[in-house]
Parts: sequence; structure tokens; C-alpha cells
Amino acid sequence: MTIGKIIDGKAFAAGLRDKVAEGVAAFAAQAGRKPGLAVVLVGEDPASAVYVRNKGKMTVATGMESYEFKRPASIGADDLLDLIEELNHDDRVDGILVQLPLPAHIDESAVLAAIDPAKDVDGFHVVNAGKLATGQEALVPCTPLGCIMLLKDELGDLTGLEAVVVGRSNIVGKPMAQLLLAESCTVTIAHSRTRDIASIVHRADIVVAAVGRAEMVKGEWIKPGATVIDVGINRVADTEDGKGRIVGDVATAEALAHVRAITPVPGGVGPMTIAVLLRNTLVAAHARAGLAKPDGL
Ligand code: GUN
Repeated sequence: MTIGKIIDGKAFAAGLRDKVAEGVAAFAAQAGRKPGLAVVLVGEDPASAVYVRNKGKMTVATGMESYEFKRPASIGADDLLDLIEELNHDDRVDGILVQLPLPAHIDESAVLAAIDPAKDVDGFHVVNAGKLATGQEALVPCTPLGCIMLLKDELGDLTGLEAVVVGRSNIVGKPMAQLLLAESCTVTIAHSRTRDIASIVHRADIVVAAVGRAEMVKGEWIKPGATVIDVGINRVADTEDGKGRIVGDVATAEALAHVRAITPVPGGVGPMTIAVLLRNTLVAAHARAGLAKPDGL
């Protein structure tokens, strides 16, 4: 039995961060300032706090300015919108990221709509979603763009390949499908209400799993030789020490016997998200400064 390749997202992300760091130095020389990323964290969610800390560290490590705004979960929607307005007008800030999820009393879509689309490095604003859907230059959501980078690195030209995206979220599933379509794949979106999902996944040369359900995609669903991108990060509590472990949306051990290549969890897609966020911030900085998009990114 042959075993598929494990795609090293951690190494790819490190290489991307190196390229971003070179681009940041070149930008600073041309523009006379560093690119800046503002991250807004509302509330005390521990996972969000860890992400925000890591984002801040990596932003500084690539030579950019990092601005963090922590607000209590009790903040009023108007105060949050005022903060975003301030950041929209702050010339040092090229990218604005509001960490999700927000507390239930705040309308997430209203907050995302308040971000200047030119600074929307998450690519969640409807203007950027619409541009992506209509094939215009846009800031694109970080996780799906990272998945496309890994797929192109593994497969080269994706033209004509059958791609199945499992999951239909605004953050991953839908933009992922748009990006695959832009690469001339034949794209199907499967989701929790899809009938006979196994046979649909079995058609795919490319499977992207982003449903948030531990090991939902079974090895036998995978067509021999397919490439699988596992976006899931799920904690399962089945270890003896009680700490649990992190698994993806794909039953990786089973899938390895079928795939050409697969991303592991952790160490696959996860490290790509922040690296692409830094890339998007650099791209936004160039656009805002009237400079051409940096090469090779
Ligand atoms: N929460 C989980 N993933 C993300 C992301 O990619 N961006 C933001 N802003 N919040 C998140």
C-alpha cells in the first residue's frame, strides 16, 4: 500500500513570511514608513487571545507595525464602530482585523461593513467578497488563499480539476469555492444538508474540508490520488490524560492510504492563515501607497 505525502504547511508558511519580510523592507525603503496592522479583540475568549498574541508577534517579526486594541465584552456596538472609524482614518494603519467571533449583542456584519474595504485584510467586507465573486482584484480571506497556495505548490496548474469544498461558511467555504473557480476548477460545494456526500467527495481531484466536525470526511470517500486540504481544527477529549487532542475534519490516518497528498492537523493549513494575513497587509499597504503589487506574493 502506498502512503500519500504530508504537505508541510508550517514550512511553506515560514517561506511565505520570509518573502513578506523582504517585501516589507522594500516597501519601507520606498514609502518611508512601515506597513501597519491593527487587530481588534473584544472580550476574553482564550483561543482568540492566543491568536491575537501570535498575530502581533509575527507582524513585528516581519518588520511591520502591530497595533492591538483590546476592549471588554461589554463594549457597546457604537463604541466599537467609532474605533473602526478611527482606524479607517489612521494613515499608519494599512490593515484592520476584527477578531471573530464577537459577543452576541454585537451585529458582526455591521462591524465588518464598517471597515474600509481597502484595509479589509480579512477580505470579509461585502465589497471584497463581491470583487472576488466577479473576478476583480480584491483582498481575499486568508485561510482559503493559503489553501490555494498549498494546492498550486503541490499540483501546479489546477485547470479542469474537479474540486469539492465541504463547508459553506463566509470565512472559508464560499471564498474557497470562488478561488478554485478562478483557477478554472470544476467546483462543487457540499455541506451539512448534502445528500450522499461520500459519492460527491469521491469525484474530487481536490477536496477542501472546512465543516468544523472532527474527522467527518472518511478515508474511503477519497478518490485514489486526490489532494486533500483539511481546514478543520477540532478538539476531541479522548486522551487518557484528559487534555484531549486536536484533529481535523478529515480522518487523516485512513485518508493517507488513498491520497496523493494531504495537509496534517496541526501543521497544515493553520500556520498559513497568519502568513497570508501578513501578505494581505503588505499588499494593502502597497495599494494604499499607490505602489504596484509586490512580485511573487
Ligand atoms: N476567527 C477565526 N478565524 C478568524 C479569521 O480568519 N479572522 C478573524 N478576524 N477572526 C477569526
